This record gives sequence, C-alpha cells and structure tokens, in this order.
Amino acid sequence: AAARSDAFVFFGATGDLAYKQIFPALQSLVRRGHLDMPIIGVAKSGWNLDQLKARAKDSLEKHGGLNQSAYDKLCSRLNYIDGDYADPATFSQIRQALGSAQRPLYYLAIPPSLFATVAEGLAKVDGVKNARVIVEKPFGRNLASAQELNTTLRRFFPEESIFRIDHYLGKEPVQNLIYFRFANPVVEASWDHKHIESVQITMAEHFGVAGRGKFYEEAGAIRDVVQNHMLQVIACLAMECPSGQSHEAHRDERGRLLQAVRTLTPNDVIRGQFRGYRSEPGVAPNSEVETFAALRFTIDNDRWSGVPFFVRAGKCLPVTATEAVVRYRRPERPVLDDRDLGLATYHRFRFSPEVVVAMGAKVKKPGECMVGEPTELIAHHQQPDEMQPYERLLGDAANGDGGLFARADSVEAAWRVVDPVLENVTPLHEYEPNTWGPAEAVERLAPEGGWHDPAAQEASP
Ligand code: BG6
Repeated sequence: AAARSDAFVFFGATGDLAYKQIFPALQSLVRRGHLDMPIIGVAKSGWNLDQLKARAKDSLEKHGGLNQSAYDKLCSRLNYIDGDYADPATFSQIRQALGSAQRPLYYLAIPPSLFATVAEGLAKVDGVKNARVIVEKPFGRNLASAQELNTTLRRFFPEESIFRIDHYLGKEPVQNLIYFRFANPVVEASWDHKHIESVQITMAEHFGVAGRGKFYEEAGAIRDVVQNHMLQVIACLAMECPSGQSHEAHRDERGRLLQAVRTLTPNDVIRGQFRGYRSEPGVAPNSEVETFAALRFTIDNDRWSGVPFFVRAGKCLPVTATEAVVRYRRPERPVLDDRDLGLATYHRFRFSPEVVVAMGAKVKKPGECMVGEPTELIAHHQQPDEMQPYERLLGDAANGDGGLFARADSVEAAWRVVDPVLENVTPLHEYEPNTWGPAEAVERLAPEGGWHDPAAQEASP
C-alpha cells in the first residue's frame, strides 16, 4: 500500500470551500483518528491563527455539527500561514511549519490560475518530493485550458500524486450504481441497447445562484455540473466491469467510457436561464450564461449503440433532487394489452436528498383481461451516508488512493465532449423560476416517454 501522507496543507483556508466543506471534513477525520498530523491553513487575508480557529468553529456550527473534543484536537494541530502566493517567504514558512513531515498532502482550494505559482513556490523550498496534491474543480474552462493545467501540474507532480476532486464520485449512492449493476446478474444481463430504451439523469436545484453570481458567470450549468458530476455519473452507470478492485482498474473503465462519449453538437443541447438571473449580484445585465441545460449524449460502443443518455441540470427548478432513471424497452407481446402503460419498466436511482433504489414494473390488473398497471416493485430506502464525500475523498487522498478521483484522461475526455457547446453557441431560452426549464427542453429534447418527474414519487418510505 502507498505510504500515508504525514501533513495536510490547505491553500484557500479562509475561503468559501474551506468554510463549507473542508473544516467539516477535517473535524470528522480527526474525530475518527484519521488525521494525526500537522494541519496547516494558508491564505492571504491578513488573518492570524485565532481568527482561523474562530472561522472553523463557525463553519462547524453551520455545516458540520460542532464536536467539541474533535474541534479541540483539530485546533491543537492547526497552524495558519498568512502570505502572498507570489512571495517566497510564504513558502519558507510552510516549509518550517511542516517540521519533519516527509510526505505532505497539499489541497489547492484556490483558482486554477494560481496552481502554477503555488506549485513553483513549493518546489523552490523542496516541498514537492513525495508530496500529493488535491485540486478543486473547475479543472480549467475548456479542453485546451484543462490540458494546460495538466501539463503544469505534471511539471511538479507525477499523475499518481494528483487528486482531481469530483465530489459526486465520493457519494455513496453513486458508488452504489457500480455495485448494484455488477452484483446483480439480472441487472447486468439487461444493461445494454437490446433492453434499455434510454437513460436520463435529472439534477434539480430549487435554489438559484445563492450569492455565487460572480463565480457562476464564469461557469454556467454545463461547466459547473455537467462536464464533471453528470458525466462521471454516466461513466459509473455505463462503464464496463473493472477487472479488479484496484483504483486504477476503476479509473481505466471510467476513462474508457468517457472516451466513447460522442462530442456534443448544438442539436444535442437546450440552454435556459431563469428569469431574474440577470439582476443577481455579480451577474452581467445582458448575461448569456445558462442556469439550465438539457443535453443528449451518445455513447459509441457496442453495449450502448443507439441508446440516448439524457441529462437536465439547473437552478430555480421546482424541487432539489438528483435522480437517474434507466428505462427498459417495451416488449412486443400480442398477449398483453399495455400500449397505454408506456415505458413503465425502469430502474430509478435517487441520489439526494434521500437515497432510493427502486424498480418500476408493470403488473396485471385484477380482472378478466391481460391488462396491466404500473407500480414500483422494489424500493430500497437507504440511510444517508454518515461519511460525507469530502471526508471520504480527503481521507482517500491522504492514503494515496485515487480511485474516486478523476484522472487526467477522464477530465480531458469530458471537456472534449462539451467543448463545442461551451461558448454560448446555442440559443438561450428564458424560463420562469420554479418550472422545469424552458419548454424547448420538454418539446425538443426529452426521452421517449418524457422526463421523469423527481417530485412524482413519494420521497420517504
Ligand atoms: C457543485 C456546484 O460542484 O455542486 C454547485 O458548483 C452545486 O453549483 C453543487 O450546487 C451540488 O452538489 P450536491 O452535492 O449538493 O448535489
């Protein structure tokens, strides 16, 4: 097994991501005894260590549930370095704070434009040897910039030491897609174009851009959640069975699947923007950025030939829910009278807010005729995972386990897929908040049988 990291250094310690995700993950890791090492926050905010501790406390009260003894332990290991990333003195201080640590884990929770400066600063104080680095999304803004970032990072770190975060891969129900498929022969035996009519994923968020207008202007729905989260979910749903448990075997299959996804054309995309977006703080009054996208993906391999994969993702939709539905074809059987039932045989995987695995089926209606009705035959409601994605992913990175991270080949393949539709080349349709996006997404780009409504099923058992 790879050697464990022996120090944790996070850049962007005073930022939003640290506040929302990193402190809660650090507290949980410390509580479980998985982070017995120096923890060093770095930022340029003019703060001191006490301020960072107060910020951590505030973050935990809001986002993690403060656990006093774990928090105290975290604080006893915490150090803070305030400094400019362009100033060599910042890195000498980091070097000093690392003490005898030999294998630091760096977390770059900072804009990608600063990656090279930070890596260079670390290299100059001899801080990259045997080190690992976690990088946040967005990983670039198109294929060319992602390739450039990869080249930059590889000047300092070998691929196996680079951990590109996609927190969807750290979600228990996303991992269950892989388990469920390959553990149940009846599922795996029908998981192909002969049996499956379509696959669709809805990632709906009821809230808007929630104060992140400036960030969102640089992103839009396709960059923010489709290039990464949605395509990784498609990879887990559609990839071939990994040849073993090694993390490279999983990454190989996800990568191979993404290589087979056809590059999008403008016909495969409907973009929408909710009414009111342009008056959000930080948003241009004539912004062309999409807050909703519906897309149709095609996978060019034998298994999925001719099966469309639909995705719709957006802000200000009627509910907050993420769900994948895999619909079976309708068998042509003269004995059945079920034309009206449509495509009622399906698997439904709800990832959030609650976790459900369900199977839709047709059953016979009591009576003289062979007439059926739709039902959900199996509905397995799982307890939400107590280990949050960031905790799992940071722990994995400290162990050198990259299985749930995106390798360079997948990240670049995913950018290649969306690249031609990134620069607002397709029309932008306005939609009312609280609706399922522009009408065009329903009329022009919907699966056979329509989009599945995540609000339709009873959410809890
Ligand atoms: C982030 C996006 O990566 O994922 C956000 O930047 C989005 O816009 C979030 O809201 C959704 O994550 P989750 O885990 O709440 O589904």
